[in-house]
Amino acid sequence: MSSKAPVIIVALDFASAQEALRLAERLDPKDCRVKVGLELFTEAGPEIIRDLKRSGLEVFLDLKFHDIPHTVARACARACELGVWMLNVHALGGPRMLKAAREAVAPGTAALIGVTVLTSHSADELALLGLGDPLSRTQQLAASCREVGLDGVVCSPHEAALLRATHGPDFVLVTPGIRSSGSAQDDQRRTMGIGEALRAGAHHLVIGRPITAAPNPQAALEACLAEVRSSTLGKKKEDKTC
Ligand code: C5P
Repeated sequence: MSSKAPVIIVALDFASAQEALRLAERLDPKDCRVKVGLELFTEAGPEIIRDLKRSGLEVFLDLKFHDIPHTVARACARACELGVWMLNVHALGGPRMLKAAREAVAPGTAALIGVTVLTSHSADELALLGLGDPLSRTQQLAASCREVGLDGVVCSPHEAALLRATHGPDFVLVTPGIRSSGSAQDDQRRTMGIGEALRAGAHHLVIGRPITAAPNPQAALEACLAEVRSSTLGKKKEDKTC
C-alpha cells in the first residue's frame, strides 16, 4: 500500500460545462476531487477550472502535455496559475521535457505526474512504434519521471504493485480502470476493484462512469468510499498482527 490516504478522483468526462457543473454540484467536495480532461477543457476552457474550484472542488487537469520542453514548461506554469491540484505530462516527452516541467511547477504547489504507456496501446502497437513491451517501457518511463523529481505517474492498477515495490511508499500512483464490486465494466477491459487496487499500491483512484452515470452520484461515491475504508481498515489490522 502507499503511505498516503487514498483519494477518489471523479472523471468529469462531459461535453459541456453545464453538464459537468450539474454533476459536480451533486458531489460533496470533502469526499472526492475531480478530473478535467481533453474533451471538457477543449469545450469549456479554463473557466471550468475556476467554476469547479468555486464550488470547493480540487481539480486534476488531465491534458497530458507533450511538446518541446519550453512549450510544456509554459503550459505547466499556466495550469499552476489556474490553481489546479494536479497536472500531468507525457513521460515519452523525454528527460529534458520532464525536467522543464518540474522546474515550472514548484514542489508543494500542484502535484506533477507523468503518463507512462497509455493502456489503450496493445503490445503489438507498441512494438510497431519501436517502444518494446508495455511493462518494461512503463518501468523505464516511471523511473525517468522519478529521476527528475516528478511526484508520481498515472498507471494501470495492474502495474501498481511493481511500481510501488520499485519506487517506495511516497511515489504517487494514480490509477484509472477502477470498478467497484458489481458495477458495469463499460468499455474498460483490465479493470480492478477498489480494495485490490489499493492493496496493490494505488494511491489516487480515478473513477468515472460508475459515479457520474449513477442515478445518485453522491451515493455511488459514498459506496466507493466505504470500500476504500474497509480495505484500509483491513490493512491496518494486518499491520498490527505482523
Ligand atoms: O468512466 P471510467 O471510470 O472508465 O473513466 C476513466 C477515466 O480515466 C477516463 O477519463 C479515462 O479517459 C481515464 N483513463 C483511463 N485509462 C488510462 C488513462 C486514463 O481510463 N490509461
